[in-house]
This record gives sequence, C-alpha cells and structure tokens, in this order.
Amino acid sequence: MRIILLGAPGSGKGTVAEDLRSAYGFPKISTGDLLRAAVRERTPLGLKAEAQMGKGGLVDDATVLALLGERLAREDCRDGYTLDGFPRNIAQAESLEALGAPGPEVVFDLQVGEDVILRRLTNRRTCPSCEAIYHVINKPPKKDDVCDVCGTALVQRADDRPEVIAERLKTHREKTEPLIARYAAKGTLHRIDGGLTPAAIFAEVKKILDAVMGEIGSSRGRG
Ligand code: AP5
Ligand code: MG
Repeated sequence: MRIILLGAPGSGKGTVAEDLRSAYGFPKISTGDLLRAAVRERTPLGLKAEAQMGKGGLVDDATVLALLGERLAREDCRDGYTLDGFPRNIAQAESLEALGAPGPEVVFDLQVGEDVILRRLTNRRTCPSCEAIYHVINKPPKKDDVCDVCGTALVQRADDRPEVIAERLKTHREKTEPLIARYAAKGTLHRIDGGLTPAAIFAEVKKILDAVMGEIGSSRGRG
C-alpha cells in the first residue's frame, strides 16, 4: 500500500506518518527529513537544497527524486510506505505514478486554517537526530528540550520562522494544492479535518485505511 499525505506546512503530516508507522509498521518517508539529513551531512545534494529550503520554496525535482529513489529502494518499503511531503507538484506526481505502487494508493489531504498552522509551527520542536516531532504545549517532551526517543537536544527548525512560514504557505497554495484535484479525479483522495486532535485525526485515517484493506482482503477471497 502507498499512503500519500498532502497538506500545508504544519497540517500534521509528520505526526500522522509517525502514528501510521506505530500502528501498521509502514515506514515514514518524509522528503523534508531526507533533505534535512542531507543538509546536516553537507552532501552535494544537501548543499544544493539548503538555499531553497531556507527561503520556503521547493527544492528542484531532480534532487528530491534522487533522494527518494534511494530511500524507496530499501527493503522496508517493499510492501508499502507512507509518503510525507511528496509529491509536491504535478511533475513529482507524474514521476511517482511512473514508479508503480506496492498495492493500492490512498491519499489523505489534511485541511487546517492558516492561523492554526502559525501557532503550531512556532511552538514546534524537533529532534535533529531521529526527527521526532514535539509541540511545547500540546506534545511536550518528558524532559525539557530533550528528545524522549533518543535523548538528543531538541531544536527549532530553521524554516519555522514566521517570514519563511509565510513563503512555505504560498508555495503550498501555488504548487501543491493543484494535486488535490488530481487525486480527487483518480478517486483516491480522502479529505480530513486536520484541525481536530491528533487522536481524532488518526481514528479517521485508520477507519478509511481499514476499510481499504478489508476490501482488498475480500476481493482476494473472492478471487
Ligand atoms: P517538510 O519537512 O515536508 O515541511 P512542511 O511540508 O512545511 O511540513 P512540516 O513538516 O512543517 O509540517 P507537518 O505537516 O509535517 O506537521 P507536523 O506533524 O510536524 O519540507 C520542508 C522543506 O523541504 C520544504 O519547504 C521544501 O523546501 C523542501 N521539500 C520537502 N519535500 C519536498 C519535495 N517533495 N519537493 C521539493 N521540496 C521539498 O506538526 C506541526 C506541529 O503541530 C508539531 O508541533 C505537532 O506536534 C503539532 N501538531 C500536529 N498535529 C496536531 C494536531 N492535530 N493538533 C495540535 N497540534 C498538532
Ligand atoms: Mg513534517
């Protein structure tokens, strides 16, 4: 199964992808995480990506596809995965379709108002090592500023400054929102109210996925 998470910056894609990994074991494939790791490691692709990320624009498709292709080739993606933050434009969606999918494709669009997004992102803290996601009020770590999972000091992402958030939202409206109509036309889109609590959002996502998996099971039974 291929799960695609669409949604504006701060809509909760990473949070849902972590829940999907815990509940179903689907690896979380976040192109943002892959790019940030490349930036930290100062790889040639990371150095190329850094400037665009700092401005809130999209990194070029070739760079993102190179990182993604490498990641999807790993064994843990064979039976399915969650894409968090990819595709981001029509050309990326076409490249993804050309790859073929491991089983059915299910797309969720997390819909959240921009005022809520700003509050979420300015209060977010992340682990630069394992990419776990926190929120100083809604999801604080057990020990102040330290990752519960791996003990690394938490950071505020460089692109979580209000002026970069505004650019990221603009990029999302212009480049990524057109994908909603594409997946609606394919019949794979599910709209989710991303303003609910994380538990309520995940319950909704789970209900839809379990129904899709049930349909596959019963069509196999019939075949
Ligand atoms: P990326 O890392 O993908 O960032 P993004 O899309 O801007 O999304 P975020 O990670 O900021 O938010 P999220 O939706 O994951 O929310 P989260 O769960 O953390 O991309 C960064 C950059 O990399 C891009 O700008 C671009 O330059 C580049 N890039 C990445 N992919 C690319 C691609 N395919 N092509 C080209 N360039 C690419 O939640 C946010 C906060 O809210 C957290 O604190 C969380 O705890 C809290 N929260 C989550 N859900 C809830 C809830 N339901 N209620 C209350 N709080 C919540
Ligand atoms: Mg994210």
